[in-house]
Amino acid sequence: MGKDVIIACDFAGAEQTFAFLDKFRDEKPFVKIGMELFYAEGPQIVKEIKSRGHKIFLDLKLHDIPNTVKKSMAVLSKLDVDMTNLHAAGTIDMMKAAVEGLTREDGTRPLLIAVTQLTSTSEERMQNELLINAPINDTIVKYALNAKEAGLDGVVCSPLEAGMVKEACGKDFMTVTPGVRFADGDVGDQVRVTTPAKAKEIGSDYIVVGRPITAADDPVAAYRRCVKEFVGE
Ligand code: C5P
Repeated sequence: MGKDVIIACDFAGAEQTFAFLDKFRDEKPFVKIGMELFYAEGPQIVKEIKSRGHKIFLDLKLHDIPNTVKKSMAVLSKLDVDMTNLHAAGTIDMMKAAVEGLTREDGTRPLLIAVTQLTSTSEERMQNELLINAPINDTIVKYALNAKEAGLDGVVCSPLEAGMVKEACGKDFMTVTPGVRFADGDVGDQVRVTTPAKAKEIGSDYIVVGRPITAADDPVAAYRRCVKEFVGE
């Protein structure tokens, strides 16, 4: 499994996205396209970024009945993305249907990872509003185990949760972790953050980094610093 840095391209439209990607001349970073950009520009943005040679993590977090998710995943698979995701809360049946939908005729498919609990969900709200009467870490581990049982490749989680997920699901079960900041950088609205070097030490397979790169004075230098700290190249 290749460790890599994924840049969160949280831009409002294609113009800003390409102005950003044009800064990279010597490398083709793995990029994450989220709901904002996808809903603004449609599947064309995925095709264009792909045709420029970037790997793509399409972060649309599907959550619906199994049949709908299966059919939607088949559409995303045809877009030839490298990684996509769903909410583990959709249950094992939904996740199995997603794997089926995503799998191409030749047996290949994009990597599929699950969101366990969103980092914006506090234990208190999960218990009081959703009536899930368990410690939040137990639900994260249980959802990760469900994802593994359904045949998924891993989960999105905080770097600080990656260790417990690996312990429960095995070292080959991927952890994709946002919430990364340089030791000397701005934390912004992220609460539980860690550095690229620390994420590597904890065992993250991919780190998702947005503003520390996209808002840097020199995004290419910031990306290289991330790769150096996390991958060690
Ligand atoms: O700019 P920043 O590095 O905080 O961006 C992190 C990216 O990862 C954003 O696209 C954010 O939506 C995403 N993300 C996150 N926390 C999660 C899941 C996704 O920050 N739990």
